[in-house]
Amino acid sequence: MPNATLSEIDAFLERNARSTLLRFSTAGSVDDGKSTLIGRLLHDSKNVYEDHLRALQAVPTEGADSNELPLALLTDGLKAEREQGITIDVAYRYFSTPKRHFILADTPGHEQYTRNMATGCSTANLTILLIDAEHGVITQTKRHAFIASLLGVPRLLITVNKMDLVDYSQSVFNRIKEDFLGFAGKLGIRELRFIPVSALRGENVVTSSGLMPWYKGETVMEYLENVYVAGDTNMVDFRFPVQYVIRPNPNYRGYAGQIAAGAIRVGEEVMVLPSLRKSRIKSIDTRRAGSERSQVEEAFAPMSVAITLEDEIDVGRGDMLVRTHNVPRIQSQFEAMLVWMSDVPMDPDKPYLIRHTSRESKIFIDAINYKVDVNTLHRTTGTPLQLNEIGRVGLTAAKPLMLDSYRKNRATGNFILIDTATFHTVGAGMILDSLPQELLPLGQGATELMEQGRVSTNIHPEEGAITKEARESQAGFRAVTLWFTGLSGSGKSTIAKGLERKIFTEGRPIYRLDGDNLRFGLNRDLGFSRKDRSENIRRAAETARLFNQAGISVICSFISPFKADRDRAREIIGADSFIEVHIDSPIEVCESRDPHGLYSKARAGEISEFTGISSPYEAPLNPEVSVRTDQHSVEESVNIIYVYLQKSTSL
Ligand code: ADX
Repeated sequence: MPNATLSEIDAFLERNARSTLLRFSTAGSVDDGKSTLIGRLLHDSKNVYEDHLRALQAVPTEGADSNELPLALLTDGLKAEREQGITIDVAYRYFSTPKRHFILADTPGHEQYTRNMATGCSTANLTILLIDAEHGVITQTKRHAFIASLLGVPRLLITVNKMDLVDYSQSVFNRIKEDFLGFAGKLGIRELRFIPVSALRGENVVTSSGLMPWYKGETVMEYLENVYVAGDTNMVDFRFPVQYVIRPNPNYRGYAGQIAAGAIRVGEEVMVLPSLRKSRIKSIDTRRAGSERSQVEEAFAPMSVAITLEDEIDVGRGDMLVRTHNVPRIQSQFEAMLVWMSDVPMDPDKPYLIRHTSRESKIFIDAINYKVDVNTLHRTTGTPLQLNEIGRVGLTAAKPLMLDSYRKNRATGNFILIDTATFHTVGAGMILDSLPQELLPLGQGATELMEQGRVSTNIHPEEGAITKEARESQAGFRAVTLWFTGLSGSGKSTIAKGLERKIFTEGRPIYRLDGDNLRFGLNRDLGFSRKDRSENIRRAAETARLFNQAGISVICSFISPFKADRDRAREIIGADSFIEVHIDSPIEVCESRDPHGLYSKARAGEISEFTGISSPYEAPLNPEVSVRTDQHSVEESVNIIYVYLQKSTSL
């Protein structure tokens, strides 16, 4: 069986249109029929990956079939892999159908399940979880589902296999589905799909089964071919960890690596971390098969590129290029969920090496907050982790690291720990948000406190000598507030960030106020009752008004579900400066995106008063601008709003 390395896969991915690629992994116990299912999938769709990979190696040239990998990229990939010294146990396989390319991380189902799953799942768009129809949901099923959710796999495809052994019974399937849902509700996985199959007989794998007429859904292959995954990569936060500095001659100093997230263009300003030096992108080179370097104007994750900067500044391996206004946390102390992968238990008294993006540092495990029993999901007290155990730990690195939470960015939110003596990988970690999770859903009930503070009647507004108009004419732009309203998951923040960047680059002073961010600080005492939301919007509007008075335009992105609150915001800010923008998307689409897993939590009853589910959303009747994010791309939506802004606010 040909195994491919991660870098080979990235090369494969680079060469093929990103939207046509699906990475997935499989999980199931030994006898659940995993290999039968995969075999069936390949056989019935006329794909045999062994032959396929051989063909790739034989035909390395540019003009080759688009399914094929150029040899140069393959070997480049291997080289990068060796240099990184990462050894992985997981077998990667490629195959293609006319609709899509697939990369399967095949993780063996024996006792090393946690470690193998951790490796296979960390980049997967989905995991196929097999359940034996005769046995139903067993402990291992729960374990696998938990690990998949911990690793942030956005979707689980639950195939109930061996339906032939239960007479293709609908009630058996339904019972298993209910059992699983009863458990998985807690896990916050964005999408769960159930398909009854018989891998052995090929029922519902590639072709629909005539033996289960009660099942009207898609086959496994139909699902794999059609599931929408393009939104999985973080395309907002530009992160470029520098892997090598290339100096072929004194005139060229390039920084090579793979873009971990986001996109960048020639001419754009970047910041080097951790030095905080700024410069602009001078050129971007990428390697195309069979050709020398070629220059591009724009590059995006997960392309491998060499970047040059306009200024001569000191940049080395392990540094990171980011946008000036979108910077990860630069910290040496942080918390993470850690999966232990070594036979030798963790030793909290000794230093380990951390490899995070292209950066390495010595690191200490300061605290083991708790361990998770993967069978029961219960937390137990934190003793040093042993093979396959998972726990929440506190870490302190010798050097500052550039950290994103894994939740926000899987590519820059994961790391591995290495034993300093043997250089074996001993742990895989997922960086947590800077605030402990317990503090994230901000407490209700604090409003009472706030209400006790009475508003004084002895205050009078102080008029300044510099008017808003004076500031605007100095800046050359009118200061307005773009008020984004829409359901959670409609795309408000993403579009707001894109728009902010666009406006910023034209020189208009701009700032973004976001519900989630304000709720960390200014509004941290507010919850999601009707009253608290009103107050949330009032404070946001007051803040936006201050910014506008200072000559700075603002993009406010708040669900702001109540019309009355938005109308009041318009009043506070001033109708001439207020542009209401409806970020519109059907709730089903928002729910399927579920970027933070909140809809599934709301469905499971874990979040109350959730907009769209258990609290109303009053759509604007007459917004200045409306964009349908299920029909327009982020870029198109940004442009629509930008064009409106240009037209309506020229001085
Ligand atoms: S608003 O309704 O008061 O305008 P706001 O935009 O500030 O909401 O905050 C919404 C964010 O809070 C969401 O993006 C989501 O991350 C989080 N959130 C937590 N609980 C809820 C809830 N019950 N309803 C809506 N959003 C919630």
